[in-house]
Amino acid sequence: MKRKVLSTILAVSMVATMVVGCGGGSTQTEAPAADAGTEAPAEGGDNAQAEAPAPVAADKEGGKVGVAMPTQSSERWIKDGGNMKEKLEAMGYEVDLQYAEDDVQMQVSQIENMIAAEADCLVIAAVDSGALTTVEAQAKEAGIPIIAYDRLLMDTDAVSYYASFDNEGVGTAIGEYIKTAKDLDAAKAAGESYTIEFFMGSPDDNNAVLLHKGVMGVLQPYLDDGTLVCKTGRTSFDETCILRWSQETAQQWCENYLTGFYADEDLDIACTAFDGFAYGVKAALQGAGYTADNWPLVTGQDAELMACKNILDGTQTASIFKDTGLLADKCVTMVEAVMKGSEPEINDTTTYDNNVVVVPSYLCTPVAVDKTNLEEVVVDSGYYTAADLGL
Ligand code: GAL
Repeated sequence: MKRKVLSTILAVSMVATMVVGCGGGSTQTEAPAADAGTEAPAEGGDNAQAEAPAPVAADKEGGKVGVAMPTQSSERWIKDGGNMKEKLEAMGYEVDLQYAEDDVQMQVSQIENMIAAEADCLVIAAVDSGALTTVEAQAKEAGIPIIAYDRLLMDTDAVSYYASFDNEGVGTAIGEYIKTAKDLDAAKAAGESYTIEFFMGSPDDNNAVLLHKGVMGVLQPYLDDGTLVCKTGRTSFDETCILRWSQETAQQWCENYLTGFYADEDLDIACTAFDGFAYGVKAALQGAGYTADNWPLVTGQDAELMACKNILDGTQTASIFKDTGLLADKCVTMVEAVMKGSEPEINDTTTYDNNVVVVPSYLCTPVAVDKTNLEEVVVDSGYYTAADLGL
C-alpha cells in the first residue's frame, strides 16, 4: 500500500440500495433490433440465430426431469440441486438429480443414463460447457429438450433456454465494489496506489469470461493509470483463470504471489471471482502472517454461508449474492414451457450466443453484499436464518 486512504471499510451505501433478487429489468419476449448494442460473449457466433430450434416435449403431464449438476464440492450447487428437485417434485415431476464431482466424463455418463432412462427434459449445469456436444445431440435426436442452468451450454443447437444471472453484471458489481470501497478516484487524484491481484473463474465456463470482462470494464482504467498496481502483471483472463474454479489452486497461487511479489509491500486487494477462491486466499494470507491490521479487501461470488460468516468476521470483505431459489423458480418455468408448450418469462434474447444459436435467457440480478447490508439481503430475504449466520 502506498499512502493508503481511510475509506477502505466505509462501504458502499450503493450496495444497500441495490435490488434484491431476480428481475428488475423489463421483460422482453421478442428479439430487439439487430443494432441493439448488446454483445455476444463468445467468438464465432456469426451464424447465430435468435431462436434455438431445440425439441419441445409439449403437453406432458408429470414426466421425468434429469438434473445434472457439476459438483457437491461447493455449497451453492448443493443448494441449487436441492431447490430444483424440491420444486419440480412439488409440481409432480419425477427427478433424477446427479452430481458429477467436476469430472467431465462422469457428467457425460450421467446424461447418457438420463437419456437411456427416457427423461422428458434435461436441466444441465455443465462441468465443462463445451464438452457435452455429443450427448446433447443424442438428447436432441431423442426429442429431449435441454435447459442450461446458470452455465451456458456452448457449441450446440440442442439447448432451448438458459436461466442464469447477469454474468458480466457480476463482474461489474465486483469492480464497482472495489472502486467505491477503496475510493479509487480519490486515490488517483492524491497520487496514491493500491496493489491488487486477480483470481478469475474457469476457462471452460462462459460465465468466467463475462465476469472478467465486467471486472476489467471498471478496473482497467485504474490499472492503466497506475492507481492499481498488479505486481505479478497477471491481469488478462488467460493469465488469471483457474481451471474448474479450484480453491486449492487459488490458495497456491496466492501463496506464490505473496512470497514472490509481496515480501516488502502488502497486498491491498484480492479480486476473486468466487467464494471458494476467497477461502483459498484467506488461508494463504493467514499463512503469510496477515492480520486484521493489514488484511486486504477480498471479494467473492455466491454468498455461500461460510463466505457470509467470513464477511462478518472480517476475513472476506464482500461477495455477490445470487439467489439460487429464485434461479430455480425461473428454471422450473422453463421446464414447464418445454413440457407443456407454455411460454416461460425471458428477459434476454441477444446476449447468450453459444457459437451456434443465441439462447433465449432469463437473467436474475446479482447483488453485492458486505458487512453493511449482509443481514438485510440474505436474512431478510429468508435465504439464511440469523442463526445460520450466528447472529
Ligand atoms: C460459475 C457460477 C459462479 C460460481 C462458479 C463456481 O459458473 O457463475 O456463481 O458458482 O461457477 O461454482
